[in-house]
Amino acid sequence: MQFLLSDPVLESWQGDCAILLCFNTEPFSLPESIAELDKTIWGGALTELIQEQGFQGKAQTVAATRVGAQVRKVVLVGLGNPAQLTLDLLRRATAIGLRQANGLKAKQVALVLPSNDLQLIHSIQAVVEAGSLVAHRDTRFKSQAKLAESNGSSTGFAVESLTLILPEPLGDQRATYEGTVTQAQEIAAGTILARELVSAPANVVTPLTLADTARELAEHHGLAVEILGQEDCEALGMGAFLGVAQASDLPPQFIHLTYTPAEGALGKLALIGKGLTFDSGGLNIKTDSRSIAMMKTDMGGSAAVLGAARAIAALKPQLEIHFIVAATENMISGRAIHPGDILTASNQKTIEINNTDAEGRLTLADALVFAEKLEVDAMIDLATLTGACVVALGEEIAGLFTPDEQLAEQLQQASQQSGEKIWRMPMEESYFESLNSVVADMKNSGARAGGSISAALFLKQFVEKTPWAHLDIAGTVWSDKESGYANKGGTGYGVRLLVEWVMARQGIPASV
Ligand code: BES
Ligand code: MN
Ligand code: ZN
Repeated sequence: MQFLLSDPVLESWQGDCAILLCFNTEPFSLPESIAELDKTIWGGALTELIQEQGFQGKAQTVAATRVGAQVRKVVLVGLGNPAQLTLDLLRRATAIGLRQANGLKAKQVALVLPSNDLQLIHSIQAVVEAGSLVAHRDTRFKSQAKLAESNGSSTGFAVESLTLILPEPLGDQRATYEGTVTQAQEIAAGTILARELVSAPANVVTPLTLADTARELAEHHGLAVEILGQEDCEALGMGAFLGVAQASDLPPQFIHLTYTPAEGALGKLALIGKGLTFDSGGLNIKTDSRSIAMMKTDMGGSAAVLGAARAIAALKPQLEIHFIVAATENMISGRAIHPGDILTASNQKTIEINNTDAEGRLTLADALVFAEKLEVDAMIDLATLTGACVVALGEEIAGLFTPDEQLAEQLQQASQQSGEKIWRMPMEESYFESLNSVVADMKNSGARAGGSISAALFLKQFVEKTPWAHLDIAGTVWSDKESGYANKGGTGYGVRLLVEWVMARQGIPASV
């Protein structure tokens, strides 16, 4: 979908459908210029629609009608109370309007943004992100016959262009705003990469595929790449990661991508993603058929990190950023770790494996040790780590765990900006007791109660002094329904949050 920017001149726009975003007012009234158009050109069709449907501009409401020849159809979408407008409401309204326009088979679409208190540059970014994401259709695994049968309805998105009709003239800001459109498209492309990695099954996205994806990113986006194989990881003493990998027929791949800015870096960050391309549970095999069938999504953290790498390489912040994924599968075979085995991680700590299904934290342990050795100023890991986090926060909110107040604040800010929701969870030290082992330094899994907290406390054992945050994205990685600008399937959750966080870090001196 192509995005165009326009001065506030709906009267001279020609196309299939105009989406009008409207605030809720009592009584409801159209902006003057649109009321005028309705009276003079559309024969009052819009006024009739509003009366018939009782449209009041309430958030997430929609109404549509045919109006004329120059603008064929109008879709009204409510924005709610003007004082409560957020970027995320704007994204959701954009998605509702575009889904409706698509249903009406519109190709050339305009979106009229009313005057509001948000910064225009942020609004443009939000609309372009939401538009690009709602238009994304993943048909990679559908046969031609199946697509033909559905008469094109699932093949693609009908809307070809979206003209953003702004509340104020562009003036000398056109180039700036067009730059914002391009950036938002890059961020969306990163999110779509993450979505497609998550939605692809485990026989398509393997540890080798993740490594190839990293190599491609490096080649096309000017990043440096290093892939460590089994022996390299052995040399680094990554016993925890390799323990998880040992039953798989596929070789483990430890991925390290680096973005270096053209001018001197103002700081150094690491983004780490859990990269289990399939999690069978190991010998503690997942017995619930629905759970095990979702475990292709257990690389959602790595998808977010690779998607962020793509976007960050395009946005070019003045920071050095490391993207790290310890990629493998958790399988069963005669070579599988036995429950009770003791593994030694690359920081020499020993771990008694009391549950082979608590594997993500083992791979992350070695990834965190590796990242800290790079002497970064801060590091964030994203992981589909625990079912307990899904129980606690559901499918729209990720769990944030960090002992670092500043990092918590920065991430909450980035979450506000991106609309990717997080909720800070406690790191209650006493809960580590359930991880105490008789024979080793710790066990890899603890009590069922507070399972996402003990998982985070386990990870903390592998961080010495670097400010660190962990995001448990087990709930947010996948969506079974269309909601907001998320389509069914992999959500690409985390890319936009990470990009916002990174871009905002540029203002912060390296030594926080
Ligand atoms: N990959 C799973 C967590 C998960 C659950 C992700 C649901 C997405 C949806 C993780 O490796 C796992 O199996 N965790 C166990 C930990 C337990 C054995 C301590 C869990 O949550 O049950
Ligand atoms: Mn598991
Ligand atoms: Zn897992």
